[in-house]
Amino acid sequence: MQESKQLVVVLDFGAQYGQLIARRVRDLHVYSEIVPCDTPADEIAAMDPSALILSGGPASVYAEDAPSVDPAIFELGVPVLGFCYGHQIMAVTLGGEVAHSEVGEYGPATIVREPGCELMDKTPIEQTVWMSHRDAVSRVPEGFVVTSRTDACPVASMECPERRLYSTQFHPEVRHTENGRQMLENFLFNICGLEPRWTMDNIVEEKVAEIREQVGDKKVILALSGGVDSSVVAALVHRAIGDQLTCVFVNHGMLRKGEPEMVEEVFRDQFQVPLVHVHAEERYAKLLAGVTEPEEKRRRIGTEFWKVFFDEAQKIGGVKMLAQGTIYPDIIESGARKTGGKASTIKSHHNLIPFPEGVHFDLIEPLDHFFKDEVRELGVALGLPDKMVYRQPFPGPGLAIRIIGEVTTEKLEILKNADAIVREELDAYNERLFEATGERNSEHSCWQYFAVLPDIKSVGVMGDERTYARPVIVRAVESSDAMTADWAKLPYDVIGRISSRIVAEVPGVNRVVYDVTPKPPATIEWE
Ligand code: XMP
Repeated sequence: MQESKQLVVVLDFGAQYGQLIARRVRDLHVYSEIVPCDTPADEIAAMDPSALILSGGPASVYAEDAPSVDPAIFELGVPVLGFCYGHQIMAVTLGGEVAHSEVGEYGPATIVREPGCELMDKTPIEQTVWMSHRDAVSRVPEGFVVTSRTDACPVASMECPERRLYSTQFHPEVRHTENGRQMLENFLFNICGLEPRWTMDNIVEEKVAEIREQVGDKKVILALSGGVDSSVVAALVHRAIGDQLTCVFVNHGMLRKGEPEMVEEVFRDQFQVPLVHVHAEERYAKLLAGVTEPEEKRRRIGTEFWKVFFDEAQKIGGVKMLAQGTIYPDIIESGARKTGGKASTIKSHHNLIPFPEGVHFDLIEPLDHFFKDEVRELGVALGLPDKMVYRQPFPGPGLAIRIIGEVTTEKLEILKNADAIVREELDAYNERLFEATGERNSEHSCWQYFAVLPDIKSVGVMGDERTYARPVIVRAVESSDAMTADWAKLPYDVIGRISSRIVAEVPGVNRVVYDVTPKPPATIEWE
């Protein structure tokens, strides 16, 4: 069972590099985890890795606080591959030299490789790679040979096949390195003798076995939010332990139109998971009355959520375990990096949940080593519907933060109806783009789109009568990660149809405006 868990450990010398490398390895169906670069060799040995990869990083190996590596990792008898900073640290640690260069190399570069080098097998003698460095290896360690060069870089790659140590100054993990994928395949499959066994079907099977083992005959509870992560955990844990799982769906009344019904339909009707649907709409309406400050709304919604949830847990009785949808980026960003250990990370997550006095649950976090798109793939493999698995990002406090000012039942009703129209029209627009381009995320498809209700009214005229009603703001952005975004250049007829439908179909609205601000300087949400 554990065989598909052949492990490649990525030693990370600078956050974004490690994640990208682990992603590429996993894309080739080999499991990979990231650890901080200074993890001691005995801790790495205890993970029983099949290979190590040293990532790139922004530092210079000679800088005062340059990240270093435990030299003993090269004595573990495990193949090691280093990229960029990882290449230079391998060189200096094993007795080679790195020199400061006058000119760096940034961007595409042409390497000429030696015939017969293992890492670059089945790639052209001359090829384009992606470089990003100033310092460069000037002398390789004893036992190593130079396997490629560029005009500016005398050691673009090196290897010591006897010890199975390989490294490149360039970045094979970056798509611009034409044959990067082939090089990774050469390393994983030819050099390390691994097999591409980390597939969704195997993962589901393994996770199910792990969860069964961890849970035994105990009862498990899970807070279902309608979001991707909690839905996938619910489907996975249910597959493992069936009715020992109870899902509690706290309906705070601020989900989008149709979402509570979808949660019921999928989990109660399709999966037949024991589901408690807590109608807390009125409780939340009272709680938010008169509150206008967004942070205060968030705080009240969050605190109340756990109160309602633990009340329900108490009613079920005898529940010892809590499943939740923590994912790998949460772990990487919240402490594993700093503490170097998984145990301490889980503890910090534990602390995030405000367990009531005297209450304790053991946590099950079956997604804690998956990236977001792997979670989606897992959801598909488990049979969850696309509209749940590919749900757009949605704030935990829901529509409460898309209503500026006080949240009232009347405003929620307006926003839900207007938002449903925006989604319907832009879902259809994305679908038309897909049909025309064959690409799901083509250049102009919208990534996230919704309606916002500001706290103002303005004059309008409907029929012969003047109105004094609310505007609705339409927000639609192109983005890939929400860090930056641009407003979607929607065709006028699409914006026009959204506008005329909203004013015709949603009582209380007499005006529709389109937000044309990128992020930065704006944010995607209005709060
Ligand atoms: P901003 O508004 O900062 O949002 O540009 C960036 C992305 O984060 C989403 N967002 C949230 N997601 N819980 C979430 O899971 C939240 O509380 C939350 N607040 C904002 C937002 O929709 C956008 O995609």
